[in-house]
Amino acid sequence: MDRIRISGGRRLAGEVTIRGAKNAALPLMVAALLTEEPLILTNMPHLADIDTLAALLESHGVVVAPAASEPDSAGAATEPDERALSFTVPEITNTTAEYDLVRKMRASVLVLGPLVAREGRARVSLPGGCAIGSRPVDIHLDGLARLGAEIELRDGYIEASAPNGLTGGTVPLAFPSVGATENLLMAASLADGQSVIQNAAREPEVSDLARCLVSMGADIEGIGTSELTITGQPRLKGARHAVVADRIEAGTYAIAAAITGGDIELVGAVAEHLEAPLQLLEQVGATVSQTDRGFRISADQRAHAVDIATSTYPGFPTDLQAQAMALMTVAEGASVISETIFENRFMHVPELIRMGADITVRGGTAMVRGVERLRGAPVMATDLRASSSLVLAGLVADGETMISRVYHIDRGYERIEEKLAALGADIERVGT
Ligand code: UD1
Repeated sequence: MDRIRISGGRRLAGEVTIRGAKNAALPLMVAALLTEEPLILTNMPHLADIDTLAALLESHGVVVAPAASEPDSAGAATEPDERALSFTVPEITNTTAEYDLVRKMRASVLVLGPLVAREGRARVSLPGGCAIGSRPVDIHLDGLARLGAEIELRDGYIEASAPNGLTGGTVPLAFPSVGATENLLMAASLADGQSVIQNAAREPEVSDLARCLVSMGADIEGIGTSELTITGQPRLKGARHAVVADRIEAGTYAIAAAITGGDIELVGAVAEHLEAPLQLLEQVGATVSQTDRGFRISADQRAHAVDIATSTYPGFPTDLQAQAMALMTVAEGASVISETIFENRFMHVPELIRMGADITVRGGTAMVRGVERLRGAPVMATDLRASSSLVLAGLVADGETMISRVYHIDRGYERIEEKLAALGADIERVGT
């Protein structure tokens, strides 16, 4: 199993290219199930989670193939584009999503809505618990039931059926769940009649999916708001869509600039999608400026501690909480960090404490007292975002940090050690 070794203390400077968002790419790939025509996705990130979902989709009859970049004006295809993939589903060959594929990635539950919408039935393994909390799917199931699906839970599987197709309906979400909003958007796009999703999630990845569905022929009003109105269509068509930039990858490199007193331009990143995190970075004392290609973060002083509470978009994202905590461990003063989205999302805390951080956790709140220096130590990655916080801490720790179980980080960060090395970090991947 690979590990990442970091020798801390280098200031990071230069530019880094931000790729398409994992959390946008996954639902977009699933949207291919809604049509028999090819869906071409460009600006795809190269990540383990993409491969995992591609394998699940192949089990349903999706043909995944490399795609060419934009056709030229004469209509001829140009060079193959290493970040473009086409997803084509001439017919759904299987409506069961098996446990072995679903358990690897919770986002697999997104196939439920499209499968039942197109085929009238779906059988999807319950995703089960995961490292950052119990993460139920009750909101997904309640919403599909309101669109006319009959839902049963049997032998660890969700069985959904709608032999005569789904029908439009009003779906008030008990919580603006990202996954449930995406599942229901896709299902409602093929339902008979109009649906209204109330209290919908507003994350940029949800809007990216909605825009792609519109390119596929869906009729969706209210994109980017908490009320989405979808007029179902009898069929959808193929489309070409560029995946929105990864705001979490961008936010992580922005924090890398702040924590190392560095200066990094994030090429391709979208500052509007990071309002709360960039506001936090300004409060800690960093400078944020727009550039032609994205934005730039520079820091020339030790960060000041600032309190953080995660919330739904446009609030501070839970997916950047661990990274922001790494910054607060070396800030001047004390910071209270409240995690309101997921229980049990403080698994990075014991590892940061091993590196000399001063953190006390009570329930969903962590009190972080900034220390002058962290010390390198052997630490273990426990989940995707927790592992990037350990990388950030390693960048400023005295001496060597060795992070094991880095497969967690490969799920969501493309070549993180190469990108950080190019910015000046002393970091390498080592095999065991
Ligand atoms: C998505 C992101 C994840 C991010 C999260 C919150 C993907 C692939 N993953 O996850 O990186 O951290 O949004 O921004 O896009 N809940 C229920 N019942 C449900 C669904 C959710 O109780 O049916 C709860 C969850 O347990 C959690 C909260 O709602 O406490 C938020 O979950 P949700 O927004 O659904 O997150 P995901 O879509 O799983």
